[in-house]
Amino acid sequence: MPHFASPVRSRLPTVGTTIFSVMSALAQEHGAINLSQGFPDFDAPAELLDALDAATRAGHNQYAPMAGMPVLREAIAAQVEQVYGARYDAAHEVTVTAGATQALFTAIAALVHPGDEVIVFTPVYDSYAPSIELQGGKVVYADLAPPAYRPDWAAVKALLTPRTRMIVINSPHNPTGGVWTAEDLQALADLVRGTDIVVLSDEVYEHMVYDGLRHESVMRHPELQARSVVVSSFGKTCHITGWKVGYALAPRELMAEFRKAHQFIVFTVHTPSQVALAEFMQKPGWHAQLRALYQGKRDIFRQALASSRFELLPCQGTYFQCVRFAAISDEGDRAFAERLTREHGVAAIPVSAFYPDARDHGVIRFCFAKSADTLGRALERLVTL
Ligand SMILES: Cc1ncc(COP(=O)(O)O)c(C=O)c1O
Repeated sequence: MPHFASPVRSRLPTVGTTIFSVMSALAQEHGAINLSQGFPDFDAPAELLDALDAATRAGHNQYAPMAGMPVLREAIAAQVEQVYGARYDAAHEVTVTAGATQALFTAIAALVHPGDEVIVFTPVYDSYAPSIELQGGKVVYADLAPPAYRPDWAAVKALLTPRTRMIVINSPHNPTGGVWTAEDLQALADLVRGTDIVVLSDEVYEHMVYDGLRHESVMRHPELQARSVVVSSFGKTCHITGWKVGYALAPRELMAEFRKAHQFIVFTVHTPSQVALAEFMQKPGWHAQLRALYQGKRDIFRQALASSRFELLPCQGTYFQCVRFAAISDEGDRAFAERLTREHGVAAIPVSAFYPDARDHGVIRFCFAKSADTLGRALERLVTL
């Protein structure tokens, strides 16, 4: 095998393999039930699969337009208007992306200049910091402190400098399951008023909010909407994480810059998936079912663990449940998660993986987007610990 003889000057010297790949591989190696990575183990709706098949056979197999198939962009614009009362022009303000990850990366690549500061909230989804660092941006961390993981707006204000270019937010929040309130959005709007700061709002779990709460999208807040790039993912909403189709919404001026980068990062996204999703989105109330589906799974999960030695942290949204394990073990969260996988056959994610300094609060994250059978088998094991 040939070898590159010179030292490789890494642009991401501290980045290794993501914890999601590590834990999924460990789960596979030990035949464990995988509640680590965030994907459903049940299939997409049959109508969507049929629509994909039909789209390929109808000849939708060549490059889509750079910004996405018009029929899908129009369906997305119609949906956000119906759900959030937000108006976007499908021609200029909506772009279909290869999943939310690409939308986030592209927004950062298009808008963050070398030396710009970008505020993110810890625990933080793993793609944000490397995307910022690859652009020469500086990542600035605001903390969401356990167990409630609520934002401290006075602390965020203290982090603002003239170099602050962007604030990345994520509600409903991975990994904590926290959901921001209308007051949070107002506090954010007050903070950024009069600045040129762009809000990058990762809303991939927008339809998974429980207990009668409402998803407070930045799209409900006209002042924030006017300075935000909003990102969502069909992977999460339609149980098709492997299709990697998502989208970004932004005012025309921001979207024009976004598209300049998008056309050279990916150019265009899998055409038949877009045609199929556009057709599927015509089904009335298709996304409203997610709330009941996942709230039911959350409740099964929480009820079973309520009598265990795990301490359940609040879960208002997403398909993740965080737990403390101090009553079971005094190990670090990573060691505990690995042992849980190896010895007890259930894989989880240590929440320290969502901190740049691997801060360990003794919390692990389970994904409950699993069939009743998978959840039942995992819970049988977890309650005995
Ligand atoms: C908060 C958050 N943002 C973005 C993504 C990535 O979404 P996609 O698979 O559409 O790239 C995920 C996936 O787990 C996520 O949890």
